[in-house]
Amino acid sequence: MTSCRICGGPVQEILDLGRQPSANKFLLPSEVEQEFLFRLAIGACADCTMVQLLEDVPQELRYHSAYRYLASGSASHRKHFEQDARRFLETELTGPDAFIVEIGCNDGVMLETIAQAGVRHLGVEPASAVAEIARGKGIDVVTTFFDADTAADIRAAHGPAQVVFGANTICHISHQESLFRGLDTLLGPDGVFVFEEPYLETIFGALAFDQIYDEHVFYFSARSVQAMAARFGFELVDVEEVPLHGGEIRYTIARPGRRRPTEAVHQLLAREQEIGLAEPETYARFGMTVAQVRSDLLTLLHEIRDSGRTVVGYGAPAKAATVTNYCGIGPDLVPFTCDSTPAKQNLLLPGTHLPVLPPEEFHKAAPDFALLFAWNHAEEIMAKERAFRERGGKWIRYVPQVRIS
Ligand code: TYD
Ligand code: ZN
Repeated sequence: MTSCRICGGPVQEILDLGRQPSANKFLLPSEVEQEFLFRLAIGACADCTMVQLLEDVPQELRYHSAYRYLASGSASHRKHFEQDARRFLETELTGPDAFIVEIGCNDGVMLETIAQAGVRHLGVEPASAVAEIARGKGIDVVTTFFDADTAADIRAAHGPAQVVFGANTICHISHQESLFRGLDTLLGPDGVFVFEEPYLETIFGALAFDQIYDEHVFYFSARSVQAMAARFGFELVDVEEVPLHGGEIRYTIARPGRRRPTEAVHQLLAREQEIGLAEPETYARFGMTVAQVRSDLLTLLHEIRDSGRTVVGYGAPAKAATVTNYCGIGPDLVPFTCDSTPAKQNLLLPGTHLPVLPPEEFHKAAPDFALLFAWNHAEEIMAKERAFRERGGKWIRYVPQVRIS
């Protein structure tokens, strides 16, 4: 049995999604032979309730110079992170010598607003190509992983930070103990650690099982984050819903006793208790329903193929790797997918090797169906591709259940 990365307690398996690749490791055809695979499965700690991967992929294999994910890839994300930055500028960062550190700043989607305001900042980003994009926007970035040592170096060079921020990054870090030691070194006495991550309740409740992939080592809830913060000498003081990636929570952590936990913290903890978020029956139900989605989706794709109609994918998010590898959807069922990110185009989706082509190929193919892998951007994509529906095309979605619209 695996032991919990946070508290050492026993971790019991919830769901096994089979042999899977690293979800953002898009491949050249020549790389297919040596592709790295691991067992993608999650479990929950019987003691602190933290849901986590049973096996993890070394971080150097996940974030490298060829890491393709760009946080600025959608208009809604750009707008959201600009708002985040403005809030920090109006609240925590109003002092004369304010300083903010972002863990995993990616292409600088949040920090660019901070940099434009002339406020001291530092991005910490191990994926060198995306870090370079951030630098191009005038953002200060160090190309490394955040841990206790990095934090000590930053503190020595820049002094204490009022805010350490992370978005869709903190659940990627397997060494949480070192991360929190780093926060202890880096944060000023009233500093806060704010992070926005996929929410376990959304994954279970909305059946967003494709949020499970190698990069997401942890699947946070208010309860497990509260336990983690307490274990490492901090306190959960605020929670807030964030409408990205299908439903996330923004957690605020402070040094114990420095800020009063908000009503929202109590409410969310009570709600998790009420819906039985950490109950074995919830885990079992999730596993069964996900298996049903797989079976329904495969049935539909086979029906489409057998009736001579056509389907292609839309979007090549990391989530597409999970669903296609779990269901066994290869180019025989879905000949290609398209994505607007130039760095992903003309490569192969990891594991199942669907070619990733530019959106123009989607227009040229004029398929009968489009399988919407980037379902969290449904509104934006469907508005952009209105013509597809107007000429009779149909969208297929599979979260929370398989449906055609
Ligand atoms: P994203 O939401 O970042 O998800 P993940 O964390 O699972 O990778 O990925 C969305 C993908 O969809 C990204 O590769 C960009 C692509 N995309 C399009 O191709 N067209 C669009 O109009 C939008 C909004 C996104
Ligand atoms: Zn635990």
